[in-house]
Amino acid sequence: SVLTDLIYGGSNAVAGLTEGAVNDAIAKYGEDKKVAMPDTAYFLPTIYAATGVKVTKLGDLPACVGVLKSLISNKEDLGEALNAGLATAVGAEIIEALKYVDNADPYAEDSGIGFVPDPVIRSLGVPLVTGDIPGVAVVLGKADHAEDVVTVVKDYQSKGIMTFLIGDVIEQCAEGGVKIGLDFRVVPLGHDVTAVIHVVTVAIRAALIFGNVTPGDLPGLLKYTKERVPAFVNTFGALNEVVVSAGAGAIALGFPVVVDVDLGENQVPGALESVLDHSLTVKKSLELRNIKIKVTELPIPVAFASAFEGEIIRRGDMQVEFSSHKAPTCELVQTCNADEIEDHKITIVGKDLDELEQGQTFALATYVQVAGAKMQPDFEPVIERKIHAWYNYMEGVMHTGQRNQIRVRVSKAAYEAGLRLTHFAEVLYNMIMDEFDIVVDKCQVTIVTDTDKVQELLDTVAMPTYEKRDERLETLTDESVDQFYTCTLCQSFAPSHCCVVTPERLGLCGAVSWLDAKATKELNPTGPCQPISKEGCEDEVKGIYPDVNRMVAEATQGALEKVTLYSIMEDPMTSCGCFECICGIEPFSNGVIIANREYAGMTPLGMTFGELASMTGGGVQTPGFMGHGRHFIASKKFMSAEGGFERIVWMPKELKDDVAERLNKSAKEKYGIDNFTDMIADETVATDEETLMAFLQEKNHPVLGLDPIM
Ligand code: SF4
Ligand code: NI
Ligand code: NI
Repeated sequence: SVLTDLIYGGSNAVAGLTEGAVNDAIAKYGEDKKVAMPDTAYFLPTIYAATGVKVTKLGDLPACVGVLKSLISNKEDLGEALNAGLATAVGAEIIEALKYVDNADPYAEDSGIGFVPDPVIRSLGVPLVTGDIPGVAVVLGKADHAEDVVTVVKDYQSKGIMTFLIGDVIEQCAEGGVKIGLDFRVVPLGHDVTAVIHVVTVAIRAALIFGNVTPGDLPGLLKYTKERVPAFVNTFGALNEVVVSAGAGAIALGFPVVVDVDLGENQVPGALESVLDHSLTVKKSLELRNIKIKVTELPIPVAFASAFEGEIIRRGDMQVEFSSHKAPTCELVQTCNADEIEDHKITIVGKDLDELEQGQTFALATYVQVAGAKMQPDFEPVIERKIHAWYNYMEGVMHTGQRNQIRVRVSKAAYEAGLRLTHFAEVLYNMIMDEFDIVVDKCQVTIVTDTDKVQELLDTVAMPTYEKRDERLETLTDESVDQFYTCTLCQSFAPSHCCVVTPERLGLCGAVSWLDAKATKELNPTGPCQPISKEGCEDEVKGIYPDVNRMVAEATQGALEKVTLYSIMEDPMTSCGCFECICGIEPFSNGVIIANREYAGMTPLGMTFGELASMTGGGVQTPGFMGHGRHFIASKKFMSAEGGFERIVWMPKELKDDVAERLNKSAKEKYGIDNFTDMIADETVATDEETLMAFLQEKNHPVLGLDPIM
């Protein structure tokens, strides 16, 4: 058929190009020259996942070219032709990898970013499982009319879809006013068609990181990407055979392709379809991948989307700002009796945006009162924390901080579009009634800009409430509660993973505290968070509970039978892959090091965060390695089976500074050590084991007196 001819034409062309490029590179650099993608533990991920081969040097590539060619049968059969599409993917990967030989940043001159590092993929885990990112769009080519692709991409952005751009669509979108960047969920990859592999390997590494797919298990890989990665492809403009064969590769991975040229009878229903009317492209694409978008219609004059969360508003672009640096501020959600408040009552006390002097800084209080038969004070901070996200989702609004330490900026553009503080209140009212309707029956919002009135609210209502809450959090220990909770949210990507969330050990993603889990159980009784009884505790120090074991076994369909809550060696908790931090044993000191996802440098174990992270994940127990949230580090339960956080010998400086106050306090209480964090090394003093050991000896770190950990 015309279609299979096109696919084979493209695959054979790519095979020829790849073989030539490999031969040229070997002639130039020799077989031993290193070849690697940057910041990944998965080699050339497509080749590694599909065949199990770990490519590290140019001399490994000719065999891969052989495999690639063997995938191209040239047989008149669509299934066979899709395999040839995979060959194109392998070829693209090799061609792109060669760009990195002898060049750390081959994309410096391109408006694309090229290869996507492992930590970025891990950071996408939570937004993907919560539906915050409902899908992944691959937009490729050059639109005949730029406004067509601009409209489509803006639509994806407004729906939270993560969009990757390849080709001239990058400039078309940029010039058309699309806000571009990882924070905006519109990521330019590169201009060559082969750059499409950089999104393909995101899906492939998701299978390795979260899905525990064994490298070399090609059917397992294809099943994972088809069933669990909600991606699809849109091409713009005329197709050539290379694009078609790359599209065949996408289809083999389970990603439907929508093109804007008429393929007539060459369409493959459900997999390759023509949509000539661009106003239907998004709808068709989402249907083909069965992606459902939840829309909350908000009565506000600006866009509202999670993609605007990372938006930065510079001083010169701001209409006004509200900041605790210069004026009193607070944000508070408070439970009231039903008769004390009026549902949907919105009050602005003081001047609104149109009366506040442009370019200046003011006071701001956001005071939300809620009432409901099922409302509990424990849910107040859970709702309150969402104010940050919801304010940020407004296009042209930037929000940082919480409680009495906040900053809010409103852009001139948003102001000119008509945005006022009443809209801020409407956003809160509508979102609370949408997400928390099970517990909130009535909601009233008051926004105050009058400095004296804000100060009064802060002193008389907000501060006392924060203090009361802090006391509650302080006493909220694993001993003080009757129940822990499971969290199985990540099972959509890591089918055999289950977190056990306790007051002191929050979910490893850092996004689910015990209070969050408790609220989730109330909001969604049969949902991802189910209570675990603490009865019959077998070992308090190690954290062994019969019901923990029963519940994880049930939640993982038997994949996991035992979890010890506070041990890194004995039945440690598993990881899905989206953990904030990875902790690993440092054998020379008998201690552990911790690296956080943001840290891009080297650790004394000779591994980066990404390499350490690849040691665990996919819901498999790996003694010696443990993924966890930042907040867990200062807990007295942290590795208490192995002696506790006294074992920590190294952390990146940023992480150490972040946890210092709490960790030092815990160290004083648990071990009587002053300023414990001064004894912990960081990258400014050591990134290798010898220097680390010398530092620990100099500081007389307590780990040196402990028993061997293994
Ligand atoms: Fe995923 Fe665990 Fe976080 Fe739940 S608590 S979202 S399972 S990492
Ligand atoms: Ni915003
Ligand atoms: Ni996860």
